[in-house]
Amino acid sequence: MLWQERFELNTMRLTDFDIYRDLLKEKSGLIITQDKIYLLESRLGPVAKKWGYPGLEALTLALQGAPKPELVNDVVEAMTTNETSFFRDTRPFDQFKAVILPKIMEKRAATKKIRIWCAAASSGQEPYSLVMILEEMKAKLPGWKVEILATDISNDILAQARQGVYTQFEVQRGLPIQMLMTHFVQDGDKWQISDAVKKQVTFQKFNLLDNMSALGRFDIIFCRNVLIYFDEPTKRGVLERMAKQCENDGFLLLGGAETVLGITEEWRLLPEQRGLYVRKDSPHLTTAPAVSKTASA
Ligand SMILES: C[S@@+](CC[C@H](N)C(=O)[O-])C[C@H]1O[C@@H](n2cnc3c(N)ncnc32)[C@H](O)[C@@H]1O
Repeated sequence: MLWQERFELNTMRLTDFDIYRDLLKEKSGLIITQDKIYLLESRLGPVAKKWGYPGLEALTLALQGAPKPELVNDVVEAMTTNETSFFRDTRPFDQFKAVILPKIMEKRAATKKIRIWCAAASSGQEPYSLVMILEEMKAKLPGWKVEILATDISNDILAQARQGVYTQFEVQRGLPIQMLMTHFVQDGDKWQISDAVKKQVTFQKFNLLDNMSALGRFDIIFCRNVLIYFDEPTKRGVLERMAKQCENDGFLLLGGAETVLGITEEWRLLPEQRGLYVRKDSPHLTTAPAVSKTASA
């Protein structure tokens, strides 16, 4: 077989690629470029099989016109990247403990209520890491009600998150051994997170492209490692709608490769805190203690 024939047999037609590119952008915000055709092919093969199509061409045909919403959903889910780990990147969790919680606890002393949103929670390691920190700090939080809402676009990954069952490899990535011993039970070659931790997180399907107002307002928003998949207008839309869902003295944490800089004016970096943002009208931007002339003399 000539290499050109092989290429044509194995590689998606560019017109078909355009169909997937447009659909993914419209339904999830995901931007996919031609150099990712191999990824489309490898991830959509199982979707075609599940739906009984002989191959990708038949799947592509089924997506034209008025496709079944369940099929569209399966295509979108197949293309999400769910990479995550417990205490991923460490720093945001240190900031949560050392910077954010003390400030929020001071501001919410009267109501003793805190609402946290993990906006692209994947298989649950991020919200469960927050619960484990809160458990460690229990003595400082008597009578406090901390609500954690964890959302994701993918039903499959949310089902995994709700189960809270992790492999040896997953618990070895970032989870301190004493937390593993305290909050998990070994079941064969898997680790099951305790019901006490699980019941502190509510998992819900939510697409970041959708109207966020029904979710209510939050004190702390974790939106990490998802904006990287979007183009600039989509990032701006998500960040600006999130600013409306955040209390004016609340916080936003982004992933290590993400920023608001050059994208929106609604958020400001908290000085000296990488990846930690507050609203442009946040009191945290102006509460640095004033240095009196006598003190500084
Ligand atoms: C790489 S994971 C990040 C997980 C976690 N936040 C972390 O930083 O470890 C990205 C997640 O974003 C989700 N996602 C992608 N597009 C989304 C959208 N439009 N709305 C909500 N979630 C989305 C994916 O399903 C995936 O689970």
